[in-house]
Amino acid sequence: MKIFLCILFLWAQSLQGSIMLRDAKIWVAGGSGLVGSAIVRELKAQGYNNILLKTHEELDLCDQAAVREFYALEKPEYVFVAAAKVGGILANNTFPADFICQNLKIECNVIDEAYKSGVKKLLFLGSSCIYPRECPQPIKEEYLLTGPLESTNEWYAVAKIAGLKLCQAYNRQYKARFISLMPTNLYGPGDNFDLSSSHVLPALIRKFSEAKELNKDEVVMWGTGSPKREFLYVDDLAKATVWAMNHYEGEEWLNVGCGDDVTIEELGALIANIIGYQGRIVFDTSKPDGTPRKLLDVAKINSLGWKAETSLRDGITKTVDWYRLHMRSQ
Ligand SMILES: NC(=O)c1ccc[n+]([C@@H]2O[C@H](COP(=O)([O-])OP(=O)(O)OC[C@H]3O[C@@H](n4cnc5c(N)ncnc54)[C@H](OP(=O)(O)O)[C@@H]3O)[C@@H](O)[C@H]2O)c1
Repeated sequence: MKIFLCILFLWAQSLQGSIMLRDAKIWVAGGSGLVGSAIVRELKAQGYNNILLKTHEELDLCDQAAVREFYALEKPEYVFVAAAKVGGILANNTFPADFICQNLKIECNVIDEAYKSGVKKLLFLGSSCIYPRECPQPIKEEYLLTGPLESTNEWYAVAKIAGLKLCQAYNRQYKARFISLMPTNLYGPGDNFDLSSSHVLPALIRKFSEAKELNKDEVVMWGTGSPKREFLYVDDLAKATVWAMNHYEGEEWLNVGCGDDVTIEELGALIANIIGYQGRIVFDTSKPDGTPRKLLDVAKINSLGWKAETSLRDGITKTVDWYRLHMRSQ
């Protein structure tokens, strides 16, 4: 009887579109990126076998007509929006117009056309870097729009905030089911290891790997090493996105993090240890530290049933393995 009721419940949920059936047509926009490729891995691991993917070259999401045509032709039932113009401080400062305009276009096109084509559910991604610069810690969901943004990425942040608000607006006006997650700093297989544009964790993996290979007796890290940061393994985020698509219906975005942070000095020591680098680590204190602490409050998502699984040591070990396999020769 219990099993019958359970099947009946799942069947009713899937009819409503609450739970994705294994053969549901799922589009992962930005499926080649760090996050998108992790979502595709997770969907496949969970047995989803009808995943739509288009490269940037095949479908430019800034092109409204092309996006409309794509929806009309393919009719995806579920959409994960992992496409965005993403970059570091230098890129944001150099191309502010591209950052704000392209992200707004991608969001308007993908979200509006999803509503028009009758998508059952869509998941959008914000980012912890769009919370106000001087937030109380840990950062709660309701702190968004309560203070000035970090000036180095305000173009990106304004567009991303618009994306979150677009989802809410379509839910309110059209009863759409567009949800959003707000991930912390991510890392993992497929990360960007280019020292001119990468985030701190992949940059350190590269620096310590090269220092070990070249027998360097010293690695220089920027700043004092004292700022604290939170890092989430990207496959954990991917699990959170699939979990949210199947189980979360709220209008508010949910923070997604591991709930813990480390100092940059601790991070450097851990990466050096995993790589087996035994030289000295020195700090160039003439370089800026940035915000002293950035940690998401993940009480809400934890209370709803999702929790990060991968420890920082395990996640970095897997990322180093990926780096050795794919990046060493470049
Ligand atoms: N990485 C993090 O630490 C982090 C943290 C929090 C939130 N997030 C969020 O996660 C999402 C994905 O980030 P990511 O780190 O995975 O970035 P990513 O690796 O740069 O991936 C972005 C993807 O979007 C595609 N794309 C960009 N512009 C496009 C366009 N006009 N048309 C079609 N495709 C386009 C890219 O394709 P091409 O590469 O071919 O252009 C790529 O597949 C973003 O919304 C970001 O805010 C990331």
